Amino acid sequence: MDSIRNEIINCTKCNLCKTRNNAVPGEGSLKAKIMFIGEAPGANEDRDGIPFCGRSGSLLNSMLESIELTRKDVFITNIVKCRPPENRDPNEIEIERCSPFLKLQFDIIKPKIICTLGRLSMSLFFKDKKISEIHGKKFKLSQYTVIPMYHPAVGLYNPNMKKILFEDFLMLKNL
Ligand code: URA
Repeated sequence: MDSIRNEIINCTKCNLCKTRNNAVPGEGSLKAKIMFIGEAPGANEDRDGIPFCGRSGSLLNSMLESIELTRKDVFITNIVKCRPPENRDPNEIEIERCSPFLKLQFDIIKPKIICTLGRLSMSLFFKDKKISEIHGKKFKLSQYTVIPMYHPAVGLYNPNMKKILFEDFLMLKNL
């Protein structure tokens, strides 16, 4: 993982390297059974080099605590490791150039469960599905159980969505 981290930090495969302050490889346990995949670093993550370290991250921490886990028990990363300017969605080229890093992270950690956070990371596994229809459900895809979840950011301003996010986390606890 250290060599992947180094590659990510020095990566120049797409234009995001020109505007980033810090690449954000991911963090957590290399023995994690659960891996969370967000979309892309935001301003806080770009400043600190740590995934989900802003307000969405605080909510993610609370959801983990609600099922008696901490960030140290899981591995947290993103589809793309550098911040897209103005927090726009990463484009197809950026996702394609960055995805070998995610694949290597899967191969090293070998998580049992992959939780996608948000529509974009859901679409890595489910191209034509709607997140409103499949969030909080488990799907067996080769050796992984994949659970699509809403992005924590949707819970920041909407109490109903926050409730759904916490309910979906119970699925993880049950597993
Ligand atoms: N949103 C994401 O998708 N990833 C982060 O790391 C932070 C916010």
